[in-house]
Amino acid sequence: MSAPNRAASARSARRPAASPPLRRFETRWIQVDPSASRISFRDAVRAGLRNAPKTLPSRFFYDETGSRLFEEICQLPEYYLTRAESEILEAVAPDLAREMPDIRMLVELGSGSAVKTEALLQAFDTDARPLSYAPIDVSRSALEEGVERLELNHPRLEILPAIAEYESGLAQIHALGLGPKLLLWLGSSIGNLERSAAIAFLAHLRATMHEEDRLLIGIDLRKDRGALERAYDDSRGVTARFNLNLLTRINRELAGNFDLDQFRHRVHYDEPSGSVQSFIESRRAQRVSLRELGFEVAFEAGERIHTEDSHKYSVEEIDALTSEAGLGLVRRDLDQARRFTLNLFRPRV
Ligand SMILES: C[S@@+](CC[C@H](N)C(=O)[O-])C[C@H]1O[C@@H](n2cnc3c(N)ncnc32)[C@H](O)[C@@H]1O
Repeated sequence: MSAPNRAASARSARRPAASPPLRRFETRWIQVDPSASRISFRDAVRAGLRNAPKTLPSRFFYDETGSRLFEEICQLPEYYLTRAESEILEAVAPDLAREMPDIRMLVELGSGSAVKTEALLQAFDTDARPLSYAPIDVSRSALEEGVERLELNHPRLEILPAIAEYESGLAQIHALGLGPKLLLWLGSSIGNLERSAAIAFLAHLRATMHEEDRLLIGIDLRKDRGALERAYDDSRGVTARFNLNLLTRINRELAGNFDLDQFRHRVHYDEPSGSVQSFIESRRAQRVSLRELGFEVAFEAGERIHTEDSHKYSVEEIDALTSEAGLGLVRRDLDQARRFTLNLFRPRV
C-alpha cells in the first residue's frame, strides 16, 4: 500500500463507518427466462437490415451506454418531457397516494433508473402502508443503478426488479399474487408503439388488471414541429450519439464494421400520424459487413434506417385510444405549460 493510501486508510479506520439503513426486505430479483423475449438483438438486426426500408427496434437502444445517454438526454434543455412529467408527479403524488389507500404494489414498465418514480415512492411508501415496487426494464445497468439508490432511500420498501421485456416481466410479477397494484408507464414510452399496437398493449394491460388495480401513464401531447424536432435532435448532439450507439452495439455484439462517421442522426415530425421519427442516415453509398450474421448490408447515399417512432397525442386521441382498450379515466393532470399529461385509469367493466 502506498503512503497516501495508508494514511487514508488509517483516517477511515478512525472514522465510524456510516451504516447503511436497516432494510426490512432483501431486494429479490425476479428471474425471467431471456428466451421469453419477443426477438433477440441478433434476429432483430438480421431482419431489420434486410427490410426495405431498413428498420431497427428502439428497445435495443438501451445497452449500458444507451441507458447512460438517455439519462443525459433527460437533462437537456430541449428535452422538456422529463421536466414536465416530473413537475406533474411532484405536484400530484400526495393526492394520488391519498386517493388510492389500498394500493400495495407499484409495478413500473420501462422504469430505467426510476429517478422520476421517487416522487410516487415518497408519497406511497409510508409507515402505514406496506409497499412493494417492481421495476421492469430490459436495461440491467439502469435497473441496477436505480435499485442501489432505492435501497438507500427506502429502507421499508420491498424491491422486486425484473430484467425483462414488458410482457414477460409483467407475467412473472403477476404470478407473485401481490396487490392491489398501480401499474406505471412513464416517459411517454407508449409513443414508441404504433397506434394500433398501443391499443393492443393497453388492452393486454387491462386484461391483467383486477378491479382495484390502477394504471398511470405519462403521455406527451402534440405540439409545434419546432419544439418536437428539437427535443429529439438537441444542439449538443446527445440524442444523435444515443441513436448512433445502435451501430456501436451492432459492431460490438455482432462483429459489424459500421464506421460511425459515415452515418448521421435524422429526425422528422410526421404531423398526420403525430410521430417524431428518428433515423440513422448513410452519408454515402457503402457496404457494411456483419461477421456474426454472415452477411453484408449495402447502403445508398442518403438511405435511412428507421430506429424510433415517438407518437404524440391530443387529449381527445388519448381518450379514444384508452377507451378502445377498455380503460376508464379516473383523473388527468397536465404540467403548467400544458405540454404533457399524466393519466390515471381504472379497468372498465
Ligand atoms: C424512454 S426510457 C424511459 C425511462 C423512464 N421510465 C423515464 O420515464 O425516464 C424507456 C425505458 O424503457 C425500457 N424499455 C424499452 N422498451 C422496453 C420493453 N419492450 N420492455 C422493457 N423495457 C423496455 C428502456 O430500457 C428504457 O429504460
